[in-house]
Amino acid sequence: MPRNQSIIRKLEPETSTSTLKKKTRRKAKPNVSLVPQYVQGQVEPYDLHEPYEPVAKPLVFNARKSQKQVIPIGNQIYQGDAIETLQGFADNSFDCCITDPPYNIARGNKKGLSWAFSNHVTMHEKWDSYSTDDFERFCAAWMSEICRVVKPNGNIFIFGSYHNIYTVGAIATRMELKILNSIIWAKPNAQPNITCRMFTESTEQVVWICNNHFKKATKWTYNYDHMKELNGGKQMRNYWEIPVTPKREKVDGKHPAQKPLKLMERLVLAGTDTGDRVIDCFGGSGSTLLACDRLERRWVGIERDPEYCKLAHKRIDRERKQRRLL
Ligand SMILES: C[S@@+](CC[C@H](N)C(=O)[O-])C[C@H]1O[C@@H](n2cnc3c(N)ncnc32)[C@H](O)[C@@H]1O
Repeated sequence: MPRNQSIIRKLEPETSTSTLKKKTRRKAKPNVSLVPQYVQGQVEPYDLHEPYEPVAKPLVFNARKSQKQVIPIGNQIYQGDAIETLQGFADNSFDCCITDPPYNIARGNKKGLSWAFSNHVTMHEKWDSYSTDDFERFCAAWMSEICRVVKPNGNIFIFGSYHNIYTVGAIATRMELKILNSIIWAKPNAQPNITCRMFTESTEQVVWICNNHFKKATKWTYNYDHMKELNGGKQMRNYWEIPVTPKREKVDGKHPAQKPLKLMERLVLAGTDTGDRVIDCFGGSGSTLLACDRLERRWVGIERDPEYCKLAHKRIDRERKQRRLL
């Protein structure tokens, strides 16, 4: 039975995939009843029989200095600019891209009403602020690099809200790519709109693209049966109700745009197979990378901010250790 399928077989509709390996490797595992429960996070000690494999430290890669394009190292965070770093990678290096780029929400130092009157996160990060023209150029540049480094017919999942998703969609349409779906991530516990002048923004989208001309796209990966099983035997819809990132996923540090692992794991399970190589060129706190690590996909992350690189490294490495220490 393929590895994905064995994972899903054990999955209850609302169970975190991270708990599943334990069940699928039951024979090789020591008696877990003697093992204390881990309280901070969700990770269970399913890899006790395997040696601890530390995650490599983030690598500063100067693509401009590099003479020729390289095959990126698997399970590695690259610290650097997304476009420059991608330019240093060889064509067709990845099976899939799952990425959560800047949305162009931040407005410089203007923190807005919600910032003044609430504890909720308001985006005011420098990396998230562009003029309209610059933002279009930036999106077009990184998207065309992603299309080069992902294999033909590979999956590309791009996150967004109304601020950036139309730009991403327009560029994908202009590039004549095959858009397969847009997935709605609905947040049942979204932060309220304190201005009371508009609806509470409680959704984000994920545009799912097949990396080929829309007339030629074929044989993209979609683990239909797995998704159906995850959805209690019914076809998985493109409307996913998943709460915002829980506190227990922020024990290593905070990132203002951190995505919940449940959401990232579902994307990884839907669009990749075990052993696939996945790139996230805006890695942030490493949610895509951690989901891939849990599900035995090879991952590569790019992130410009050294502090976020450290955070992503710490999250993945700590989880790998936990799997063995408990
Ligand atoms: C929306 S956040 C990603 C959050 C991530 N999905 C998570 O769960 O933590 C975008 C990230 O891209 C990084 N970033 C912005 N511009 C970049 C660039 N040109 N090159 C590399 N990283 C960049 C930011 O530092 C930020 O961490």
